[in-house]
Order: sequence, then structure tokens, then C-alpha cells
Amino acid sequence: MATPSWFLDELAHAGGEHLDPGYVPGYDRKAGTDPADDLAILRDLGLNETHTVIDLGAGTGTFALAAAPLCHRLIAVDVSPVMLAHLRQKAAQSGIENIECVQRGFLSYEHQGAPADFVYSRHALHHLPDFWKALALARIAAMMNTGGILYLRDLVFSFEPHEAESVIEKWLSGAPEHPELGWTRAELEMHLREEYSTFSWLLEPMIAHAGFTIQGIDHGASRVHSAYTCIRA
Ligand SMILES: C[S@@+](CC[C@H](N)C(=O)[O-])C[C@H]1O[C@@H](n2cnc3c(N)ncnc32)[C@H](O)[C@@H]1O
Repeated sequence: MATPSWFLDELAHAGGEHLDPGYVPGYDRKAGTDPADDLAILRDLGLNETHTVIDLGAGTGTFALAAAPLCHRLIAVDVSPVMLAHLRQKAAQSGIENIECVQRGFLSYEHQGAPADFVYSRHALHHLPDFWKALALARIAAMMNTGGILYLRDLVFSFEPHEAESVIEKWLSGAPEHPELGWTRAELEMHLREEYSTFSWLLEPMIAHAGFTIQGIDHGASRVHSAYTCIRA
């Protein structure tokens, strides 16, 4: 079916830096992500070598590359051809062969084959405004097995609107000065102005409405990051 003319352009909302060949090689150092804790959570939830895992908004593949040896099929989906090229290069260097890289987005990835047992997404859903997040979550539910797990991490705000100024200021004041070491104050301010982080009390009903039971919620001490363990009902 043809894409309607009113449909969101996912590439235009992907964040210009994720499409920039000058930025992407420094991404892993800047992000400094260790996937070990998330992998341990997924293993505790039953992840094994028979499973199909989809990583949506996989970026440079820090999670995907660590998870691939633990599952049967790992599909790394990202709208950015630059991020995916970096991921492919890292996969080739490490000799991992069960990763499929797909240049699509939350709203355009068409899953083929056995339904997913696990869907993982970290710091990517905020690229979509809330209407589109709801569509994306419904699409995720449709690509999964009943009982499958969605593990979703994102910049999600677990505070009340009247607390916004104080919580956000505390977050911004902890940002590093140097962009190689993390997201600077200016970059976080841009995130607030131009991207679509939402409140936990808006996102959680969206997750449930899409057909998931939220089994675990971690709102985090900063109240600007949340992680959700969701079961496909
Ligand atoms: C901040 S990075 C996070 C990458 C990785 N998940 C991580 O935790 O390091 C956000 C990623 O989401 C991707 N992205 C943005 N919009 C997307 C969409 N609509 N569908 C899929 N990926 C998207 C970007 O290209 C980028 O690679």
C-alpha cells in the first residue's frame, strides 16, 4: 500500500547529527553505553539462542552487537544509513553474522519471518511526536509473539508540569562541558526544544493501549530517563 501523503518523514525527524558522517564515528565514545545491565535483564526474562530480537533505533549497534551472540536472529533497524554503516562495519570486524541491518524506522519497518520474542529500543522513540509514538507502539505489538517482551528505554519525564523548571535545570546542570564526553547543556536544550520526549503519565497509557502489560517501570533518580519492561498480552 502506498504511504499516505500526510505520513511522518522519519528521516527528517531522526536528528541531523545521526545522519552526519562527521558525528557518527564519535558516537560510541560520547554515549559511553554499557549494554551489560540491559542484557542481564533480558536474559533473566528468558532471552536465549532460539529467539528473534529486534532493536529499533539501533544506532551504532552497541546493544545489538552484544545481544546477537545470545539469540538466533538479531534485526537492527534504524532510519540512518550512516549509523547503520557504522554498525555493519563493527559487526564485520567482530565476526558476528546473525545481525541483519534494516534501514527503516518505527513507522516503516515491515517484519518478515517468525514474530519477535524480544523488541528492544533505547533512546530512539523520542524522535516521534506522541501521535506517532502510539502508532509505532501498535506496530511493535503486531510484530511480536504473545508473551514476548518489549524493553523500552528513553528520555521520558516522570514529573509534574509544575516541576519542569527545577527538574530540567538540575538535569542540564549535570551535563558535561565537552561534547566528546556526553551530551552538553546546549545539546540537551536542543533535545527539549526540537525532539519529543514525553511525560511518563502520557507514555504509559500509550504502551498499555498498544496491547502490552507493563511489568516493570524504572523512572530513575533524575526523573528524565525511564525504562519499561512490557509483556505483549
Ligand atoms: C540517540 S540514538 C540511540 C542509538 C542507540 N539505540 C543507542 O542507545 O545508542 C537515536 C537513534 O534513533 C534513530 N532514529 C531516529 N528516528 C528513528 C525512527 N523513526 N525509526 C528508527 N530509528 C530512528 C537515529 O538514527 C539514531 O540512530
